Amino acid sequence: MKATAIANANIALVKYWGKRNEKLILPHNSSISVTLDGLKTTTTVEFSKNFHKDEFKLNGEKKSGEEAKKVSGHLALIRKMFRKKEFCRVESQNNFPSSTGLASSSSAFAALTLASVSALGFNPKPKELSIIARQGSGSASRSIFGGFVEWKKGFQAGGSDSYASELYPKEHWPDFRILACIVSEKEKKVKSRAGMKQTVETSPFYRAWLSAVEEDLRKTRKAIKEKNLELLGKTAELNCLKMHATMITTTPSIVYWQDGTLKAMAAVWQMRESGAKAFFTMDAGPQVKIICLEKDTQKIKQRMSEEGFEKIIESKPGEGAVLSNKHLF
Ligand code: PMV
Repeated sequence: MKATAIANANIALVKYWGKRNEKLILPHNSSISVTLDGLKTTTTVEFSKNFHKDEFKLNGEKKSGEEAKKVSGHLALIRKMFRKKEFCRVESQNNFPSSTGLASSSSAFAALTLASVSALGFNPKPKELSIIARQGSGSASRSIFGGFVEWKKGFQAGGSDSYASELYPKEHWPDFRILACIVSEKEKKVKSRAGMKQTVETSPFYRAWLSAVEEDLRKTRKAIKEKNLELLGKTAELNCLKMHATMITTTPSIVYWQDGTLKAMAAVWQMRESGAKAFFTMDAGPQVKIICLEKDTQKIKQRMSEEGFEKIIESKPGEGAVLSNKHLF
C-alpha cells in the first residue's frame, strides 16, 4: 500500500480567489493556469494497519500543526471516499521554497491525491482526481493536468461539476516561459485560505472582481489558442492586479507585496516601455512571476539580476501529475 507521485505547481493566469463553499472548496469564479516544469513536489505515501496515526514529513522535516492537519484532513477525506481505515505515512520533497506564494499547495495536494489513491489500489479518471485534489487545495485541482488548464467553477452544490481539464497540452506553446523572481523565502503570514475568506467577507471590491473575471477568462482562452503573448500577458497582469486590489481592501488589509515586489513590477514595466515583451503575475505572496517567451529570457534575467534578484526560477509548460516507482522511503 505504497505509492509515489510527482506533480508540478501551476501558476494561475486568471486567478481563483474566493470560495462559495469553504468545506468543499468550491470557487466563486473559474480560473486558468499553466502547469510549470520547474516547480515540482514528489510525494510517497504508505498506508498500513501498523500505523496509529498519520505522519507527514516535508523536505526531511517532521511536520506538526497547521500543515500536518491539512494533510491528515485530506487523507481522512480519501479514506472516507474509498472506505479505508489505515493510517498513513507521507513524505514530500519540494524542489522550490514552500509557502512563499510559489504555488506549493497546488503541486502538494495534486501529488498527495494521486499517490494516496494509487496506494489504496484505485485508478480513477483525471476528472475524479481533480475533484479530490480540489478539496485539499483549490489550485491543486489544476495540477493534475499538464500544459494550459481551466478549472470550471461549476454550479452543483455538491461540487461534482467543479473540476479542471486541459485546454492545450504543453506541446501547444513550447517557447512560453515563466521566470519566478524570488523576492523573499520567508513563509508568508496570511495563507491564501484565510486571505480569500477575509476578502469575500470584507472587501468592497470583491463584487467588481467577480464581474470582471468572465471577460479575463475569454481573453485568456483566445490568447492561449492563438499563442498571443501580448494579449495573454496584459490580461494576466491586470487580472493579478485586480485580485491584489481586493486583498489590499479587506479589513484588516492584506498586502503580500514587499519592496522587492514593487521593484520587480517597475522593472517589468520599464522593459515593456523599451519594447520587450514581458508581463508579470503574482499570487498570495511577494514573488513576481514574469511571463515571456524563450527568446527573451536571457535579456530579462540579465536585467532582473542587475536589479538585485539573485534567484530566478525558469519554467516552461510542464506535464500533469504522474506516478513514479522511485519511493522517498
Ligand atoms: O488553492 P490555494 O489555496 O493554493 O489558493 C490559490 C490562490 C492563488 O494562488 C492566489 C490563485 C490561484 O488561482 O492559484
